[in-house]
Amino acid sequence: MRSFHFLLPTEVSFGEGSITRVGQETSRLGRRALVVTGRKSSKRSGALDTVVGSLKKAGVTLEVFDQVEENPSVETVELGSSVARKMGCDVIVGLGGGSPMDAAKGMAVLARLGGSLGDYFGSARITSPVLPVVAVPTTAGTGSEVTPYAVFVDSHKGMKKSVASPYIFPRVALLDPRLTISMPPDVTANTGIDALSHAVEGFISTKAQPASDILALEAVGIIHGHLPQAVAHGDDIEARTKVLYASMLAGMVIAQTGTTLLHGVGYAPTTKYGIPHGLSNGVLMPKVMAFNGSADQERFARLAVALGQRGDATRGTKLAIDAIERLRDEVKMPTRLRDLGIQEKDLEEFARQTMEHTRNLANNIRQVSWEEALQIYRDSY
Ligand SMILES: [Fe+2]
Repeated sequence: MRSFHFLLPTEVSFGEGSITRVGQETSRLGRRALVVTGRKSSKRSGALDTVVGSLKKAGVTLEVFDQVEENPSVETVELGSSVARKMGCDVIVGLGGGSPMDAAKGMAVLARLGGSLGDYFGSARITSPVLPVVAVPTTAGTGSEVTPYAVFVDSHKGMKKSVASPYIFPRVALLDPRLTISMPPDVTANTGIDALSHAVEGFISTKAQPASDILALEAVGIIHGHLPQAVAHGDDIEARTKVLYASMLAGMVIAQTGTTLLHGVGYAPTTKYGIPHGLSNGVLMPKVMAFNGSADQERFARLAVALGQRGDATRGTKLAIDAIERLRDEVKMPTRLRDLGIQEKDLEEFARQTMEHTRNLANNIRQVSWEEALQIYRDSY
């Protein structure tokens, strides 16, 4: 067996009602909290009120920063960190989807270490502890509650930039399936497919390892089995619980393996057109899998089995791709870049941006050139 390193310093608490413990958990880490959330959904669902009530009950002083947009900008994170500094914040609560949780991580870095967010882009640029983060996901997809990554939009360059460091693993993740009930069907589908892409990419990554493989295959099977029900019947708490659990497992996978070519090609359409991250990944996934398929048929055959397919192992890649295309149809996801309003003339620029995501490309089992990245976009158009 190949040797490996597995790091997961986040304390996980999973189950219905776990949100009510956010005050108690946060008060172990600090006394002055900045609650970082999006502009609408956590207010509409009542989750923000529950978090604020729980924090107050535990004697935690707090301020709410509710200006995080989808695909959070560097400016938003810098604004939030200045609020955190002014209030003497010693713990940050990230409540929402991937955007608020990633923004919370960025603010935890800047509020403790200073500087600008650009100083920390890349990996290993953070060399000492940051403020502790309590992550409370309200979507089931990003897995950010258990990862050492945060992704931001650098508006000067018009592209996504990420921060990767063991110091930005949340200290506590509270996963309450009830918080995901209010997600509309399209958001459920997009975020669920993001989780699927994490599991698939982690399993096919050059950094795949025995322990993360188990988590990846389990996550793939659960998403395949339960995402359609969570999309069609959003109030089915059992389906919601399963998908949130799988999303967390997939987050634990990429925390070890990183993401690969699919996230590399998936970022560009989200930045220029504001397309949701999971939707972009979902549209591009089959063609990326087809590109990678020849590099490791055996892995794709195992993936096909996790997707409920039985058949000739030499056809593993095709079986896995067919199963994912059927799942995508079941959750009513668009299947072509042209259906998302993207103009064909942008594809060359998308391919250029892909080549800048060098960490994603290094994790991919097959080297990709600009021309090949462009072909993936064209084939998905
Ligand atoms: Fe993702």
